Amino acid sequence: MLNVDEVKKAISEDLKLAENEAQLSEFWKKCLGKGGTIQGLMNGIKQVAKEEKKAYGQTVNEIKNWAQALYDEKKEEIEKQALLKKYEKETIDVTLPVKMRPMGNLHPLTAVKHEMMNVFAGMGFEIFEGPEIEDDDHNFTRLNVLKDHPSRDMQDTFWLTEDLLLRTHTSPGQIRVMDAQKPPIKVLVPGKVFRSDSDATHSPMFSQMEGLVVDKHITLCDLQGMLDEFVKNMFSDAAKTRLRPSYFPFTEPSVEVDVSCFKCGGKGCSLCKGTGWIEVLGGGVVNNKVLENCGIDSSEYSGLAFGIGIERIAMLKYGINHMGKLFENDIDFLKQFKA
Ligand code: PHE
Repeated sequence: MLNVDEVKKAISEDLKLAENEAQLSEFWKKCLGKGGTIQGLMNGIKQVAKEEKKAYGQTVNEIKNWAQALYDEKKEEIEKQALLKKYEKETIDVTLPVKMRPMGNLHPLTAVKHEMMNVFAGMGFEIFEGPEIEDDDHNFTRLNVLKDHPSRDMQDTFWLTEDLLLRTHTSPGQIRVMDAQKPPIKVLVPGKVFRSDSDATHSPMFSQMEGLVVDKHITLCDLQGMLDEFVKNMFSDAAKTRLRPSYFPFTEPSVEVDVSCFKCGGKGCSLCKGTGWIEVLGGGVVNNKVLENCGIDSSEYSGLAFGIGIERIAMLKYGINHMGKLFENDIDFLKQFKA
């Protein structure tokens, strides 16, 4: 008759030897698989006397269930161990030094443009962008720069056709905004402009930021107040502005705006060429003719406008002495402007 304890002992011993999944599956084949120990015991039933067959069968079945349960338990254990080992291997040492990737930074011109937009956005300005290819009408005529008027020579224009040109300033943005919008208007027009001009402080392509405010009772004082706020934010709290009379066909009166030298504080130095002041932009009260050209009643409304050279602000702010530096894409130069 079958010695249950011995069979179980042999199976347990075998299972103890299985330490990994491959060995466990070997054990399964040997014990529970086709032609394995249990199957052998089942086959042994043929030799068992008829009246004992039932009890024998039940015993073998019981051994089979017991072995299967033992196997399942071991399997779970081995899988758990394997998982733990895997976790251990995959542990990341966050204190290990890493290879540093170089981080890019904004181009100084972009950074200054953003900064300028932020300052004006704080005063409630919206952003508008016009086309770089303009027609005579928007770039000149409706801005009161009439044909054959000598003021056309103030800007050396790149003409594309009889009528089309690369905009020489962002002021055509004023016309486009006033055509599209009724007062009150408060917009900034940043963008590239083009003039046939090239030296240390001029480039055939450069950027401007136009400002336009149209509402009731707008005066030159509003312009100075806004620009004071602008230079304080861009340069220093002590910065002041000074307006000098000037001429632009689209503003009346027109002004050149200087900022007190933020390097010497007004005493006079190489940056301000000994004057204590640095010219930063042009502006004025919008010429009534320009308002009327855009269908705005100049007896009811008035406006102010200004145009700031972005490169000029960047050069002053960072002490860059050649405008070309801003367009050369010299990485070593640009790296210095990491914020
Ligand atoms: N468009 C003028 C220029 O490029 C600047 C300006 C803008 C002056 C708005 C007055 C008002 O020189």
